[in-house]
Amino acid sequence: MALKIGLLGLGTVGTGTAKILLNPAERSPLLQEIEIYRVGVRSLDKSRDVSLPQKLMTTALETIVTDPAIDVVVEVLGGIEPARSLILQAIAHGKHIVTANKAVIARHGDEIFTAAEEAGVYVLLEAAVGGGIPVIQPLKQSLGANRISSITGIVNGTTNYILTRMQTERGEFTDILADAQKLGYAEADPTADVDGLDAADKIAILASLAFGGRIKLQDVHCEGIRQVSAADIAYAEKLGFVIKLLAVAKREKTPAIASPEGEVLQVRVHPALVPKNHPLASISGVYNAILVEGEPIGQVMFFGPGAGSGPTASAVVADILNIAAVLKTSKDAEQLHPLLSCVHQHYSTIAPMSELVTRFYARFLTKDRPGVIGQLGTSFGNHSVSLESIVQTGFQGELAEIVVVTHDVREGNFRDALEEMRVLEAVDSIPSILRVV
Ligand code: HSE
Repeated sequence: MALKIGLLGLGTVGTGTAKILLNPAERSPLLQEIEIYRVGVRSLDKSRDVSLPQKLMTTALETIVTDPAIDVVVEVLGGIEPARSLILQAIAHGKHIVTANKAVIARHGDEIFTAAEEAGVYVLLEAAVGGGIPVIQPLKQSLGANRISSITGIVNGTTNYILTRMQTERGEFTDILADAQKLGYAEADPTADVDGLDAADKIAILASLAFGGRIKLQDVHCEGIRQVSAADIAYAEKLGFVIKLLAVAKREKTPAIASPEGEVLQVRVHPALVPKNHPLASISGVYNAILVEGEPIGQVMFFGPGAGSGPTASAVVADILNIAAVLKTSKDAEQLHPLLSCVHQHYSTIAPMSELVTRFYARFLTKDRPGVIGQLGTSFGNHSVSLESIVQTGFQGELAEIVVVTHDVREGNFRDALEEMRVLEAVDSIPSILRVV
């Protein structure tokens, strides 16, 4: 008997998903046993890029999640509501869930996974992070033998596209963003992408899987790319770096704070200077990549298209196939497959950013007179911040531009030193502060 799918949403990802399911030739033979049973849409009149019988379509989405004939609800609506309520209702009706919705999982994963465990159903989300790149299942299955120490990702294509163009064209953020919006590479409201929120959702999900604890999204430090300037990109290049928006989740080796679960993580999103020989430095344009480090594997990197109809649908259908395979072979329907389900309950402890130990790049605008570099050096010294380099790089109008790169420092100390410098009469401003990988 075919596995019956209720598809919620027939936008970019829903259309891609339907196209694969309707055209199974030369793909997995298991696709022959999967049937699109109902499709929930906002409007019945809209012309579509896929041909589905009109009788499958409905605007009454609730009738899909409560339909006893449906086995799997595929939620590709995006956004928080009604997606969250429909997912919870579907789970309450015993349906397995496949979703591409990182926002709903990052914010409401706790109630969704708790409900799913109680109901004995799967919630699979390969498409929620990295579009078509397989990374969720590898973390759950193929890398299961490893102690994961860190995940570092470029998980937002829009910002990577903007930063890549800023680098190649020497353009400023606002001009490139406006052009990216015209060309359809950035949304009319670009906030979720350029302020790092989309990447924060994704790294919260990856951290939860890699380190086996729930993540409170509000604990994830999040900075976007609005403050990155063409000047910083040019200086970074001279120093041997490119600037990337990184999403990082790391196990703290020597945590400065205690955790009831005995484990402390860093989970953060921010632009960073990445050495040109780092595996993530060459990821350009809209592509995504996720570098996982663990013991004993060392480094493994997943690379590919992080968005788009076909790639994201490829991940959605992979999840549908996983459920189909498990349901077909499982003798014990009461027991969820331990490598597919998500059962951790506790929350991971996230270290405050002040405890992060990292290198920094900072750009100062100061009065141009003798002794200024000495004053900056003294303030850094007062807070135990050791400098790798400090150079006057040129002028902006009347003001001297000074670029500093530190050795590894505690972020709290570095910030204290900056506060001391901000009030110096010779310091006009500190336009950029970026971490260095
Ligand atoms: N808006 C995302 C990006 C794609 O720019 O990568 C969907 O996750």
